[in-house]
Amino acid sequence: MKKNVLITGTSTGVGFESAILFAKNGYKVYATMRNLKKAVALQKAIEDDQLDIEILPLDVSQIDSINTTVSTIIAKDGKIDVLVNNAGAGFAKTTEQATEAEIRWVTEVNYHGVVFCTQAVLPYMRKQKQGQIISVTSVGGLVGQPFNELYCGAKFAVEGFMEALATYVSDAFNIKISCVEPGGISTAFMSSAIEKTAVDGQFATGEYQSIFEKYMAGNQKRANQSKEQVYQTGLEVAEVILDVAKNENPPLRIRTSQWAENFCQLKTKADPDGSKLVAQIRESFL
Ligand SMILES: NC(=O)c1ccc[n+]([C@@H]2O[C@H](COP(=O)([O-])OP(=O)(O)OC[C@H]3O[C@@H](n4cnc5c(N)ncnc54)[C@H](OP(=O)(O)O)[C@@H]3O)[C@@H](O)[C@H]2O)c1
Repeated sequence: MKKNVLITGTSTGVGFESAILFAKNGYKVYATMRNLKKAVALQKAIEDDQLDIEILPLDVSQIDSINTTVSTIIAKDGKIDVLVNNAGAGFAKTTEQATEAEIRWVTEVNYHGVVFCTQAVLPYMRKQKQGQIISVTSVGGLVGQPFNELYCGAKFAVEGFMEALATYVSDAFNIKISCVEPGGISTAFMSSAIEKTAVDGQFATGEYQSIFEKYMAGNQKRANQSKEQVYQTGLEVAEVILDVAKNENPPLRIRTSQWAENFCQLKTKADPDGSKLVAQIRESFL
């Protein structure tokens, strides 16, 4: 039987490319999205290339939606081999100026969504005595950046959650745990983040406005001056996710580009893929 994979957030970007790439590489793909009206492009790719992809609804902020879709997959295949926690959303706003609803939402989508999807598949992977959970985090899950503290906080949380899981579920139940950490990706991510963030065309107001403008200009300047390619395509990131899925001994963490590697180096130099840390924690605690 083919390996199957459940991917969240496949309407666009990395998730969309991953669904197609995994299917082209022999996986049965359950491509999930919160709004099935956005399935048109994926549906066309499925028909054009006769891909083994089934599109299912899944909103990572709704536990019932997660559980229903996981149950549907189990009823069909009796197993889930790989979960790719890809769904996420950018958010750039100062803590002071973000509303309570925004703070809850950015945490819900980027962190709790990963926790609840993972919680839903773990019982099946544990009983199967095999499985793999890959979360798409970000360089922002390792390095805090201006105006991104609420997004970075959620991605740091995912990194911590995955790291802690890796210390015991891999050895005990053969469930592999990995974080894929991209830098910039040229997807709809930025524009939808800006759309959600701006109020009356302003991203930050009052005393924050000039700092925000400096930050945006700096981003552009860094992109222009960088020796490495700052922005990757969704497909390039999907290729790293597929490599991790195919790896018998996948890393706990992996950056997806040289730019991302350099950007995180102060944090990752001692233990780039997290394997030393996990080994040390296992030795100390288990
Ligand atoms: N783009 C970057 O620069 C960048 C950099 C580092 C890391 N990342 C991470 O990479 C991953 C993929 O992002 P991307 O660049 O491919 O961005 P994207 O094109 O905006 O895709 C994000 C996906 O997440 C989905 N999503 C949002 N809220 C959801 C929810 N409540 N339930 C289910 N799905 C939901 C979106 O669905 P809708 O279409 O319905 O909104 C979309 O399918 C994210 O985890 C992101 O944090 C992105």
